[in-house]
Amino acid sequence: MCDIGDLVIVKTEFTDQSGWKLRPGLVVGEYLDDYLIAFISKQVERYKNEPTSIVIDNNDVLSGRLKRKSIIRAHKTFWSEKKLCQKFGILKKETTDKVLRLHIKSLVRNYYAFAHCPKRFIPGKTKIHYSGRVYDEKEIINLVNSSLDFWLTAGPYAKKLEKKFKEFFSAKAFYLVNSGSSANLIMVSSLKSQKLENPLKPGDEIITPAVTFPTTLTPILQNGFVPVFIDCDVGTYNIIPELLEEAVTKKTRAIVIPHTLGNPVNMDVVMKLSQKYNLYILEDACDALGAEWDGKLVGTFGNMASLSFYPAHHITMGEGGGVIVNDSKFVKIALSIRDWGRDCWCEPGKSNTCGKRFSGQYGKLPFGYDHKYVYSHLGYNLKLTDMQAAIGLAQFEKLSAFIAARRKNFMFYYENLKELEDKIILPKWEKKANPSWFGFPITVREDIDIKKVIEKLEEAGIETRKVFAGNILKQPGFLDIPHRIVGNLKNTDEIMTRTFFIGVYPGLTEEMRGYVVQVIKKVFKEI
Ligand SMILES: Cc1ncc(COP(=O)(O)O)c(C=O)c1O
Repeated sequence: MCDIGDLVIVKTEFTDQSGWKLRPGLVVGEYLDDYLIAFISKQVERYKNEPTSIVIDNNDVLSGRLKRKSIIRAHKTFWSEKKLCQKFGILKKETTDKVLRLHIKSLVRNYYAFAHCPKRFIPGKTKIHYSGRVYDEKEIINLVNSSLDFWLTAGPYAKKLEKKFKEFFSAKAFYLVNSGSSANLIMVSSLKSQKLENPLKPGDEIITPAVTFPTTLTPILQNGFVPVFIDCDVGTYNIIPELLEEAVTKKTRAIVIPHTLGNPVNMDVVMKLSQKYNLYILEDACDALGAEWDGKLVGTFGNMASLSFYPAHHITMGEGGGVIVNDSKFVKIALSIRDWGRDCWCEPGKSNTCGKRFSGQYGKLPFGYDHKYVYSHLGYNLKLTDMQAAIGLAQFEKLSAFIAARRKNFMFYYENLKELEDKIILPKWEKKANPSWFGFPITVREDIDIKKVIEKLEEAGIETRKVFAGNILKQPGFLDIPHRIVGNLKNTDEIMTRTFFIGVYPGLTEEMRGYVVQVIKKVFKEI
């Protein structure tokens, strides 16, 4: 009887049944009367560059001996009757683990090629999505690997990815969370922390646009702050920077700014105002990963910033998000709010990082109360799983190519749709902005029936989306929210009624883009 990890000599018959050959192998599976055997070859030089092969020597062997340095080709396996296998040793557990994972990797790669590779585009039939997951076998391999680890909660993959993002943004801290909405909740809730010298109180005002995503606004309301709305620009779809100062009162404590559809807000104006009136700046960069203002990444200007990794976004983990912390006073506060509100900042499985686990005085708790169970904030559990982070790590490697593809797709539409300017308003961006586009926004001119345009595009298989909530004050769940409007929201209403966007995501092919332009031109000609 053999186990997985046993080294065996297998008696194998020649195909023409002219005789038998003895060959070495490793047992990597067992079912009924058979073992699954991975080939062991002495031709190390020949096979060493195969991605699913591993070189072994006697250091990898627990018992028995290899005659020479060899290579296990984990993808190259065959089933053999048990009675034809003669055990001669046992491979060490760590090496067997590696071989099994390489074997699984080879299967996953095949499955990806069979089931997940992009389908052929059929104009008019294949849907052209506004966005979507773009991935290859690497994401699935990482996902499977993390499920084999079975760590489940945020663990080694999450740690690696947080480090990568922290470096990418040169941030004080980066926290992975389970969504962009959670990231926004953490940022806004942090402003109320009693650890701050002058925390925000209910009733304090936060300036933000009404052209927004709902969960950019809701944390402001959930925390009892009052949103103050200013109008947006038709073209950039961002707040009009010149209107910001007018909105500032004694009660104003912060600005929450989304970089709409990946188009950077004028951060010169925002940061000047922040300094002048001592305002916190929270950037919603959920749609804008990789966008830059004046050569500096958005998400690095404010005290904190949020990212989303929902499939529509620049990179995905299914569900997921991140908080970029640029201001050191929020490093522990944001972490605490993510992790149940706890005061302790030990990593999972670690204890006593602070050195006074049982010797601190917290609130009115008895002296020495276990720091692991001290709660200094009204927090949540907004962490993600290691499986999500594993996918994210593979996606992170593709980020710069994704951003470049989004920009290229955007410019293709921009150049090719210029001739429709009498019918549509093309997107605009400021001189210092280098957007990382989430979509291609189109505002139809007043005399055009947008409903018909959208209907015809959707009929042709081209997905369209509104600029999120439009004027959020018109949304059923937001009709009665406490708020203040400065000036009017005329453009905001126009964006709500006359703007939609189409996708620029990296999954678009040249053929698809050509088709989209052709259909849009036809639709506007006929309308
Ligand atoms: C600007 C903006 N903020 C926040 C979010 C919320 O992100 P999530 O869907 O990950 O919760 C989105 C989602 O698309 C968004 O576009």
